[in-house]
Amino acid sequence: MGELDGRNALVTGGSRGIGRAVALRLAAEGALVAVHYGGSRAAAEETVALIDKAGGRAFAVQATFGESGAVDRLFEQFAAGLGDRGADGLDILVNNAGVHSVGSLAQLTEEELDRVLAINVRTPVFVIQRALPLLRNGGRIINVGSAATRIANPLQIAYTASKAALAALAPSLANELGRRGITVNTIEPGVVQTDMTAGWTVVPEAVAGLEAITALGRIGEPEDIADAVGFLAGSQGRWVTGQTIDVSGGTYLGPIPEG
Ligand SMILES: NC(=O)c1ccc[n+]([C@@H]2O[C@H](COP(=O)([O-])OP(=O)(O)OC[C@H]3O[C@@H](n4cnc5c(N)ncnc54)[C@H](OP(=O)(O)O)[C@@H]3O)[C@@H](O)[C@H]2O)c1
Repeated sequence: MGELDGRNALVTGGSRGIGRAVALRLAAEGALVAVHYGGSRAAAEETVALIDKAGGRAFAVQATFGESGAVDRLFEQFAAGLGDRGADGLDILVNNAGVHSVGSLAQLTEEELDRVLAINVRTPVFVIQRALPLLRNGGRIINVGSAATRIANPLQIAYTASKAALAALAPSLANELGRRGITVNTIEPGVVQTDMTAGWTVVPEAVAGLEAITALGRIGEPEDIADAVGFLAGSQGRWVTGQTIDVSGGTYLGPIPEG
């Protein structure tokens, strides 16, 4: 018996990186997981296969966020996937899909800001809107933001603004949904080893620099984030709502004493 037996979860961006680890974690606890992907069909199928192999249940759903009609397509496939397995309703929504954006304010174009906001903010907002009628009492909404909102970096201005906007949703939604026992929180990862950071984490000096300003002395793995999501998704997270939770190993907390 898993803690999430009988629960249905939707993990956006479950094909790769953090989302894959989250999908595996929720499925390992017994949830039936819809693994959403945009362009990486093979990766999403691999996530589903990994879950199957571990004795869990999952199916893939495709929608390219930023494209018109994406949210409709997502929920049509979600309902169909549940229906094929004799299930309905939603218990855990993890808004994880997102894109990074590198550049200063001077370099930023309207097109780039629109792209980042469309994928990182507009789509999750309407995913939540569309999810609410399906979400059962006691459900969970977990948005994946970024510790970038706490650490000043002029070279990721659009990304930071998008993640700050995403995090701003949780308190209001928590108040709106709390009487139904639904919690809404934001997880803010620090740097995690995924495709998103691969171009950067191959540079040893960059990794060493980050380790030097991180209390726990290393960069994150997707499972570090998935465990925090798993906590919020399970019964142990029932009394946490409306919060932003930094999951960065203590990155950039302040000076670290030597020795
Ligand atoms: N890695 C980090 O250091 C870090 C730190 C803080 C926060 N985060 C946040 O954590 C989340 C996951 O990051 P990650 O590092 O796991 O990223 P990743 O390895 O690049 O994976 C991104 C995921 O988002 C999906 N996605 C991206 N654009 C999409 C679009 N237009 N339509 C549909 N799906 C889309 C991708 O699906 P497809 O490949 O199938 O298109 C993929 O599953 C993101 O929100 C990111 O901002 C990451």
